Amino acid sequence: MADGREILSSIVASQVAIHRKYGGVVPELASREHLRQIVPVVREALGEAKLALADVDAVAVTQGPGLVGSLLVGVTYGKVLAASLGKPLVAVNHLEGHVHAVLLEAPIAKREQPAMPAVCLIVSGGHTVLYDVQAAPVNGALRFRYARIGQTRDDAAGEAYDKVAKLLGLGYPGGPVIDQLAADGNAEAVRFTPPVTKGNPLDFSFSGIKTAVLRYVRAHAEMNEETVAREAALQRGERKAAQLRPLCSQLTLDLVASFQRSVVSDLVARTLAAAEERDARSVLVSGGVAANSELRQTFDEEAGARGLPVFFPSRALSTDNAAMIAAAAYPRLLAGERASVEMNAEANFPLA
Ligand code: KG4
Ligand code: ZN
Repeated sequence: MADGREILSSIVASQVAIHRKYGGVVPELASREHLRQIVPVVREALGEAKLALADVDAVAVTQGPGLVGSLLVGVTYGKVLAASLGKPLVAVNHLEGHVHAVLLEAPIAKREQPAMPAVCLIVSGGHTVLYDVQAAPVNGALRFRYARIGQTRDDAAGEAYDKVAKLLGLGYPGGPVIDQLAADGNAEAVRFTPPVTKGNPLDFSFSGIKTAVLRYVRAHAEMNEETVAREAALQRGERKAAQLRPLCSQLTLDLVASFQRSVVSDLVARTLAAAEERDARSVLVSGGVAANSELRQTFDEEAGARGLPVFFPSRALSTDNAAMIAAAAYPRLLAGERASVEMNAEANFPLA
């Protein structure tokens, strides 16, 4: 990254192929893969940016939250890299990275930076959380302050997508395939009861809908055969929505469309309620599920109707990437923040 704003190169080593057969991330395999990939990825990123290590002014690394084994690989490598180059090391919260993914996108999309205060929804396979974001200029760069105002009580939204996909034989990760299949289903066909979260009305819950889908499938034994057929297709490597689509009955398409409608309505409703409560001037949406077409469209329509601008990262910047970590590090670097040699990976590292 140049000046915390311009992406010189962005290299992402996906581990999807490795975790797919388990239907989710296996922590030990993830950290082993990080260890294998980290040096080649850094080399490739420098190569594409046409830079040498000596040209780098600072190193940013994710301190947490996340799987501790994977975080440790990054933290150890970051520390050693910074120390051997004699360059500053800045520790970054992964969730702050997701916020910055949205800010990175604005100039690329030729839009003004989102007006603050903002409400930010981070929605991925591991997180579903709402932040109030405030900004104030410090040393010529904006410093951001976060307050957590809502979060999931159980599953993350992306996790619900992945579990429903697994149940229906739609492969891993479930989000992209369900997103495409839902377009051919009737989203009003199956009624799911909206989650009741006692206490904070800005909290989410997605375990109920996952169980409701399971109950629906159990009550419709005629769905078994097609699920088995799709599992066989996945085994043959036929994972694309277009390949699975002919193996889906209308019942299945309606079910995934209704599931998606329910999740999207809930995410949008609580986020817009938060924006209203906080007098937010913009809404930011980030994380893997922010790639979802219906989520984007519904936010555009409903926030648009209230005159509230909504900002999404591109699909590439929605999912985990290193550019967003460098972007989040930049204001901290300018403010003189340095990670000490004792800095450690934090599996549960709260942003606020
Ligand atoms: O942010 P991310 O790449 O990784 C973390 O979980 O941190 O998010 C991955 C999650 C997965 O659960 C995946 O199913 C979901 O994002 N996802 C989607 C879509 N693309 C990815 N969910 C719904 N619709 C999509 N188009
Ligand atoms: Zn993430």
